[in-house]
Amino acid sequence: MLRVAVMVSGGGTNLQAIIDAVESGKIRDTKLVRVISNKADAYALTRAKEHGIEAVAVTRKDHADKEAFHAALLAALDEVKPDLVVLAGFLVVLPPEMVQRYRGRIINIHPALIPSFCGDGFYGLKVHEAALARGVKVTGATVHFVEEGTDTGPIIAQKAVEVLPGDTPEVLQKRVMEQAEWILLPQVIDEIATGRLKIGG
Ligand code: GAR
Repeated sequence: MLRVAVMVSGGGTNLQAIIDAVESGKIRDTKLVRVISNKADAYALTRAKEHGIEAVAVTRKDHADKEAFHAALLAALDEVKPDLVVLAGFLVVLPPEMVQRYRGRIINIHPALIPSFCGDGFYGLKVHEAALARGVKVTGATVHFVEEGTDTGPIIAQKAVEVLPGDTPEVLQKRVMEQAEWILLPQVIDEIATGRLKIGG
């Protein structure tokens, strides 16, 4: 049984896709052991609780400095001994100690085809605004391993999505979620859980 911790910051639609896939059996041999948010009011925490998954908030403002915040985030993970850490819209730069301790066992979903529209400052709706401003005709989503840099780790899977005339950032974001993110992330977790994709080294 793969023990998965999910880290979130916001609405948690990717978390919901993971929960649904575990419950329907599309993700096999997996237990969601904890959802960790850096925002106390993240709707993702409600989604977790509604499905009987332990949900905890670890916020910067509840800690005296960045070091204490980082230590608390790491402790919240260590307590549940996850095999895999999934960043599903977690908009905090990971503490370096976390990347070191869980190297090869942290994956992230990014709402573009890396190496396009990624790196510092490219998150959430900003990614889609940038894609539309550049006029690309195809975008998509990427699941990748997390390393020290922002969006620099090895790519695991990508799915392309068409940009259509008249798209707004919100419309494009929704299409990328529906046609790529909510499909790709559960697929990758299932591949890891069933041993088709090896993690940890
Ligand atoms: C998702 O689109 C995810 O790919 C993105 O934030 C959104 C979270 O939505 N992540 C990043 O931009 C990371 N760089 P959600 O809370 O509804 O899953």
